[in-house]
Amino acid sequence: MEQTAYEKRVKRRISGREHDFFIVCSPGLETICRSEMVAAGFPDNRMNLIEGGIEFKGRVSDCAAMNLNLRSPSRILLRIGRFKADSFEKLEKKIRAIDFTLFLPKNCDLKFSVTARKSRLYHSDAIAERCEAVILDQLRSDDTFTAQNPSTQTVFIRADQGEFQISLDSTGELLFKRGVKKKITPAPLRENLAFAMLFWAGFTAGDILLDPMCGSGTFSLEAAMIKAGLPSGFFRSFTFESWPSFSPRAFAHLKKQTEENRVSVSEKQIFASDMDDHALAVMQQNMSGHDFCRTIDLCQKDFFSLNLSTIPPEKKGVIMLNPPYGKRLEEKTNTKAFYREIEKKLLLDFKGWRLGIILPSKETLPNPLVRLQLKPIFHGGLNLFAGIGII
Ligand SMILES: C[S@@+](CC[C@H](N)C(=O)[O-])C[C@H]1O[C@@H](n2cnc3c(N)ncnc32)[C@H](O)[C@@H]1O
Repeated sequence: MEQTAYEKRVKRRISGREHDFFIVCSPGLETICRSEMVAAGFPDNRMNLIEGGIEFKGRVSDCAAMNLNLRSPSRILLRIGRFKADSFEKLEKKIRAIDFTLFLPKNCDLKFSVTARKSRLYHSDAIAERCEAVILDQLRSDDTFTAQNPSTQTVFIRADQGEFQISLDSTGELLFKRGVKKKITPAPLRENLAFAMLFWAGFTAGDILLDPMCGSGTFSLEAAMIKAGLPSGFFRSFTFESWPSFSPRAFAHLKKQTEENRVSVSEKQIFASDMDDHALAVMQQNMSGHDFCRTIDLCQKDFFSLNLSTIPPEKKGVIMLNPPYGKRLEEKTNTKAFYREIEKKLLLDFKGWRLGIILPSKETLPNPLVRLQLKPIFHGGLNLFAGIGII
């Protein structure tokens, strides 16, 4: 079928061109994200690591591939405008100069995330209202593109000293949502953090993983996806899928290409356990229906009575722990004492294993028996540490 003039414009100005993107990362995960991009073959000289993420130049198809494959980031933004504005009139004029009809479907639901600092225009609701009116006016007036499944489209507006940066979210729900878990237990870890800890501990697809306080199973599910060669976004959808520049055929092809790396692992290589009935039931549900979870052995066990009789002794691997702490521990148990017990158990039964453990603070293990490298992480609104070491 012949392309319409509008389709040709989308191709010429959006899909056929390079744009500026920003990959948003949790503090501390930027370098992991860069390693992932380099490993995927993205040239180092086309990206720039800054605090909070990575800037890169690429096509919307690169953005699709990164959303699909990168395990560490939070979201990917397409930067579409940068200008100075010190009045609403100027802001509206500059926003009107961006052709939103080439970027967005006319039936999308707009949402705004606005921050303004040291700027004459500082009222975020007023900024959002003015921009929304202009964008909707554009989208409604043109005979452009109607998405079959329009998603909520967040427009990010950052104003700093009068300089505005306008970006479109390409991701939708944050990237840590893999579309695998059906349920969660209290204090679940985000999948991107679980990946970061596995990465820091040097976990590779051939390694045994022990996840003895598994809760809803974040470490185990992430490791099982890695073993199976499944891209992080394989089971979910993204906002860019409703953009006019999106090519369903090219994206289906990209997903199909990932099948070449797919491995079917039926041997038990991931050992997940928890002492809590509810956690076990949740984890069971999260695994159900997913073939890639056949490599996970799940059982109910108290960590302190765990023994390695079911794991071949020569296969030392990686052990990941996200223990309860503070309020989540029973009243009578003190966090430091509990962590000390965990350390003793690790030294007794897991010598030589690589370890990743979440610590609520640097003081949790004042004189560690296991030497740990402490990586600051941000989780559940708190500044915590991931302790990484060899037992
Ligand atoms: C913070 S949650 C782990 C959450 C998990 N990382 C996730 O993403 O869902 C801590 C888990 O440790 C389990 N737990 C606490 N003490 C335990 C013990 N002695 N043995 C086994 N599991 C234990 C709890 O039942 C809880 O599921």
